[in-house]
Amino acid sequence: MPDKRPIGIFDSGLGGLTVMKEIVKLMPKENIVYFGDTGRVPYGTRSRDIIHKYALQDEKFLINNDVKLIIAACGTVSSIVADLPNTLPVPFFEVISYAAKMAVSATRNKKIGVIGTSATISSESHKKKILELDSNIEVFTSPCTLFVPFVEEGWISADDNVVLGMVSRYLEPLKQSGVDTLILGCTHYPILCDVIRKVMGDDVTLINPGEALALAVKDYLENNDLSNVEQKGNYEFFVSDKTATFEKTAHMLLGEKVEYNKVKQVDIDKI
Ligand code: DGL
Repeated sequence: MPDKRPIGIFDSGLGGLTVMKEIVKLMPKENIVYFGDTGRVPYGTRSRDIIHKYALQDEKFLINNDVKLIIAACGTVSSIVADLPNTLPVPFFEVISYAAKMAVSATRNKKIGVIGTSATISSESHKKKILELDSNIEVFTSPCTLFVPFVEEGWISADDNVVLGMVSRYLEPLKQSGVDTLILGCTHYPILCDVIRKVMGDDVTLINPGEALALAVKDYLENNDLSNVEQKGNYEFFVSDKTATFEKTAHMLLGEKVEYNKVKQVDIDKI
């Protein structure tokens, strides 16, 4: 039976809006509840235990909002929970498994690069998923710590030499290793895709985990007859801190305007 309950999406902050953008593109009729933990961002430099604790609180908030499934849009959270059994009362989707699958189908020379936050790269979660699918693939990784602050600052142009220099410095070793496919393993990285393409060259396939995940969620909803059939999805936004830069950052990441006064603040520690 069609199900109009919302899809729940959470992230360490606003970066997950790039994943929401892909969900909206593919499933415009789905209602969505988005939670961004803007009061505790970034997660990418924190320890496993703290990231896991925060993720459980974020998920609980979404469960309390009667969602039909939960998406961890955050690459960092996904890298910690990708191998854990789902103990939630609703289906759970993370961004590692589907990105790994898409990269394995895309590579021709069996050399895949992965970039993400420090926590994501040190978890080796992409590597494990890729090798489970094809043990002959070589995986090359690099944490790209400055990508997130550059994106949040709006420094994203491929014509800006500062941005180009910063991105080249991180990606040059991956380019030298000859990868033909690169997983953009963090919510913010698709925003830098023009710069990344300029550095890596047109022959390298860039994998946007949000795109891979949206396809999987669409399949799941259709196969289980859980899609919403109403006209246009309704979106609700919650954050743990309403910051002054919210509107500008949200607009850049989602690609459409989110009205500041419609965003609700929640005390995530009291959930
Ligand atoms: N959302 C995070 C990720 O995708 C990036 C920001 C952070 O470090 O929290 O890994």
